[in-house]
Amino acid sequence: MVYKKRNIRKERVFALIGIILVIILIIVGICTYKHFTSTEYKLGKIGYSEKEITTLLKAEDKVLNKALDNEYDKHLIPLTKQKYFIWKNFDKYKKEINKRLEKSNKINYKDVVTKVNVKRNYNYYTHTEKTNMDKENAILVNKYYSLPEKYKPENIVDVSNWYSYGNIQLKKDAYEAFKKMFNAAKKDDITIIINSGYRTYEIQKETYDQYKTWYDEEYADGIAARPDFSEHQTGLALDIITYNTKGKDFENTDAFKWLQNNAHKYGFILRYPKGKEDITGYSYESWHYRYLGKELATKVKNSGLTYDEYYAYYLDKE
Ligand code: DAL
Ligand code: ZN
Repeated sequence: MVYKKRNIRKERVFALIGIILVIILIIVGICTYKHFTSTEYKLGKIGYSEKEITTLLKAEDKVLNKALDNEYDKHLIPLTKQKYFIWKNFDKYKKEINKRLEKSNKINYKDVVTKVNVKRNYNYYTHTEKTNMDKENAILVNKYYSLPEKYKPENIVDVSNWYSYGNIQLKKDAYEAFKKMFNAAKKDDITIIINSGYRTYEIQKETYDQYKTWYDEEYADGIAARPDFSEHQTGLALDIITYNTKGKDFENTDAFKWLQNNAHKYGFILRYPKGKEDITGYSYESWHYRYLGKELATKVKNSGLTYDEYYAYYLDKE
């Protein structure tokens, strides 16, 4: 009797141990399964370091999926971290990086993103396309985005000699805004005068061709646009001077200072700023202003970007 009882107790103990072992095995199994199917493990397997994995796990889904679906890419994190990174340009960024790596092993990701966004990974006047005219006053015109062939805008009006030197024309919206700006400047004892406004295809061609007879093509391209690639042909751009100063001297005038602080309030931006020559494609032009409308001009001014960069990121991202 006693023997039987002891046997039953023993069996129970074994059964219990068996159950515990099975439970432990199941737990270990689940943990192992979880580990091998975890995102961390997969990323590690692909080749990402612990630090990179931590970053990727915090990144947006699109970045994480890109990492999971592709081979190890050491450029993925620094590229997608850039403020003005645009997904549709991803392959172009990679191509540009590889091109730069042939010359140097130090990559400036910010510069890669900036340049690719404005198509500066291509030479000027290559890979050109027609600009989206639906953007109206916000159209982008530069060395990669042209106007329709021999474009002639509508609503071009004559500018009074009160505001200009010579026979100037502008698009009506730009003219109305300029008049307001002129009057506001006058109140501050500043005189701004329009020296150039709307230029027809033919005049822009003449201007550009003239420069090409004086200078080599690269220099001419840095100071004048080719016809159908000039903002002046839109009627939305104007060159401003003040009494006794024009061209390069304009930047040293109070009128220029005034415009720096106020032009955006009337819808104008300085289109070819100093230090941004390799983005805009033009030498610094303290006199060339572009009408965008108050709201957009203020946003562009506050962004600190050139219009080429602003357009690429905010107006043409998708
Ligand atoms: N000077 C400016 C870039 C033009 O020719 O349109
Ligand atoms: Zn100009």
